[in-house]
Amino acid sequence: MTRDTIRIGLLGLGTVGSGVARILPQKADSLSATIGARLKVERILVRDLRKPRPIEVPSELLTTDPAAVLDDPSIDIIVEVVGGEQPALDFLRRAIENGKHVVTANKVVMARHGAELMALARQKGVDVLYEASVGGGLPIIAVLKHDLAANEIRWLKAIINGTTNYILTRMDRDGVEYAQALAEAQQLGYAEPDPADDVEGRDAAFKLAILASLAFRSRIPPEAVYHEGITRLTVRDFRYARELGYAIKLLAIARCSNGIAEARVHPCLVPLHRMLAQVRGVFYAVEVEGDLVGRVLFYGQGAGALPTSSAIVADVLELARDIARGVPRECPELGLNHLEVRPIHEVQSRYYIRLEVADRPGVLAQIAGVFGQHYISIASVIQKEAHEDALTAELVIMTHRANEAAVQAALRELGRLPVVREIGNWIRVDD
Ligand code: NAP
Ligand code: HSE
Repeated sequence: MTRDTIRIGLLGLGTVGSGVARILPQKADSLSATIGARLKVERILVRDLRKPRPIEVPSELLTTDPAAVLDDPSIDIIVEVVGGEQPALDFLRRAIENGKHVVTANKVVMARHGAELMALARQKGVDVLYEASVGGGLPIIAVLKHDLAANEIRWLKAIINGTTNYILTRMDRDGVEYAQALAEAQQLGYAEPDPADDVEGRDAAFKLAILASLAFRSRIPPEAVYHEGITRLTVRDFRYARELGYAIKLLAIARCSNGIAEARVHPCLVPLHRMLAQVRGVFYAVEVEGDLVGRVLFYGQGAGALPTSSAIVADVLELARDIARGVPRECPELGLNHLEVRPIHEVQSRYYIRLEVADRPGVLAQIAGVFGQHYISIASVIQKEAHEDALTAELVIMTHRANEAAVQAALRELGRLPVVREIGNWIRVDD
């Protein structure tokens, strides 16, 4: 049976919800030509009816009663842009229970509960689409689900947090220290008043859990994603890294080999010739290597009302096209594999290590001895600056690939050597 109108229930009318509510009527003619039916926003759930909105919507559409949207039998598709874990998760469960397809931009819900929602959707004969949950307008979920489906994904490396990439760009390019760059990001509205989720790497870890689950067809829970933030980086590290031919980026890395996955978010030295090193400001990029396609890179605006609405409306169109033609949909299973995730202490990497040491004969030999005892091979040592008054010097050591546990043990031992005044910093190197 064909349908001429597809009805949408919108949960949330904030930054993203307002974008969706603006685009649907603005592009009504071209969207209906694409799918052969009209899209109609039937009801919109908000928290506060009196709040001023950036767009005008007929007041009779607004409600603060979730049941008025979720239990309305005329609504076909629920778009969830409320955010946070609860009540968004309950809203999505109830929508699916009521036989509605859902579109969500919610990374927390999809990373933690995506598999459960998809299983419920399969039982109810509806679908769950979530392109906007990672990277706003940057297309990556559908790419992993459909376009790269014939590939075995070997790895993906991504810059998927705009706030931190803005801060790191300012530190690298303009020599602005972390605290000032963060304050600027807050003034510009990129960083939240409480920026912890972004700067501690949690936001990127949720997104990586979603990407890694799709890439490796295995549920990778967010708790299995190791994450470290950017707060201990200094402009000095950026300067030295650049002299050595690297940028520093907060990378989200997922890799799979021999049936074991890696999923981690942390600062990384990235060779300057790599495309990821050139991603500046609030832009996102995801690089994927598949066995058939080789390497592909996706780059674009990962947040903002219109880029994020672009992904949401695309998901709505995909569902609406099938509803209009009476074509049933089946929500695919998230993962058929059951991969283990390698703990961070077993990961292998190269390392950049900056030490403040006593500037006298025999010091290098003691330091090299510690690395040697832990089977860590040194690739290069550069003495950067001697502080004559304090009789100290700064060393920048690059290692060959080494085991994380060995490097952490070596750093602890170095910290106890009387000739080492300070472990300035250590950062993994992406090779
Ligand atoms: P937002 O501006 O804070 O908007 C949230 C909306 O949800 C508001 O309209 C709010 O109502 C409503 N809401 C919140 N709790 C509610 C409740 N308990 N009952 C009813 N309504 C409730 O958030 P946003 O930036 O649009 O983000 C929405 C989602 O998109 C999040 O999952 C976010 O991670 C994701 N996302 C956002 C971006 C972006 O650029 N902002 C990019 C990618 C993904 P009131 O307006 O009445 O307070
Ligand atoms: N806080 C995120 C960022 C945007 O800075 O990229 C929403 O996912």
